[in-house]
Amino acid sequence: MKAKKVKVGIIGLGWPGREHLKGYVAAKEAELVAVCDKNEKLLAEQADTYKIPERYTDHKEMLARADIEAVSVCLPNFLHKPISADVLNAGKHAFCEKPPTLNAREAAELAALSRKKRKLLLYAFVQRFSPEAQYVRRLVDRGELGEVYFGKAGYIRTRGIPIGAGGWFVDKKRAGGGALIDIGVHPLDCVWWLMGSPKPVSVLGRAYQKFRHAVRKDITFDVDDSAFAMIRFENDATLMLECSWALFRESRGIREIAGTKGGVNLSPLSVLSERDGVMLTTTPQLKKANAFEGEVRHFCRCVLGQEKPIPTAEQGVTLMKMLDAVYQSSQTGKEVRIR
Ligand SMILES: NC(=O)c1ccc[n+]([C@@H]2O[C@H](COP(=O)([O-])OP(=O)(O)OC[C@H]3O[C@@H](n4cnc5c(N)ncnc54)[C@H](O)[C@@H]3O)[C@@H](O)[C@H]2O)c1
Repeated sequence: MKAKKVKVGIIGLGWPGREHLKGYVAAKEAELVAVCDKNEKLLAEQADTYKIPERYTDHKEMLARADIEAVSVCLPNFLHKPISADVLNAGKHAFCEKPPTLNAREAAELAALSRKKRKLLLYAFVQRFSPEAQYVRRLVDRGELGEVYFGKAGYIRTRGIPIGAGGWFVDKKRAGGGALIDIGVHPLDCVWWLMGSPKPVSVLGRAYQKFRHAVRKDITFDVDDSAFAMIRFENDATLMLECSWALFRESRGIREIAGTKGGVNLSPLSVLSERDGVMLTTTPQLKKANAFEGEVRHFCRCVLGQEKPIPTAEQGVTLMKMLDAVYQSSQTGKEVRIR
């Protein structure tokens, strides 16, 4: 018998949308039947290259197709909430790019809609699907690191302020925030997940804008270009977060966790442990795998009922609460409690 494939559509064909596209084309669980982008040239180019039968410039027309079961939403941040809601309201499962939404209120509304419509809502936290993160999560689940009580998450760019189509990345109304919500969210999510997604209870943070001069004057730029925070959790664990679009520091990713029996650095991967009073560093050699393909295959398997969602709608709400709290703490100068 032929294995069932999920009929999928994609809205938004920027860089991440095209990574979803290649992932679906490669996935044996998916049949990519339609793509949508309001940029007609890009739409035609991608649909022709990958021989996708249906193409749309209006997402509502695409969502009217009864056969589509699941949709990737790869649009600017301010469209995540309304267009993911359109997807769920059309009776389809949604796979939305990061950050989940502009703030925690929007994420909570979307999570409620997903429950009401009984349709899946997953967020595309691609770092969870890297071979390194999957491997480390297995170590944590087997208790090999003991009680994990420290995490460090970072994404440092020396220079790299994104503008996006129409400058939306640096406009608070359309992006929700700057470096923190754009790139800080990636390692924050990954490290938090590796720590077992503990419940956050308080945040002390500071967001800065020091590189206004690096962006054209006619572009609205009212967001942070770096941010730093300390997050404490109900289980007494602590996570330190640092991120920048522009900073006088070397560009790098930081993902580390430490427990009572061992610690891990994911970038590059090394595992620290102790045996007979001797410190051991191991450097596991993992098979390479495309994390975008991994995440879209996981989404399809969830739709097929073969797997349970790894990045859930509820986790999206908690994550947005942490980000909101960093911005609030930065404004008030005080530690912010999270409920
Ligand atoms: N997972 C990752 O590593 C990663 C990397 C980059 C961006 N992102 C996220 O992906 C999202 C999109 O980012 P981007 O860099 O592609 O942005 P972008 O501005 O470059 O492109 C978005 C695309 O969506 C299209 N579009 C905009 N409004 C539309 C609408 N109403 N209907 C149909 N098409 C529409 C645009 O024409 C464009 O092609 C953002 O939320 C961003 O945070 C994720």
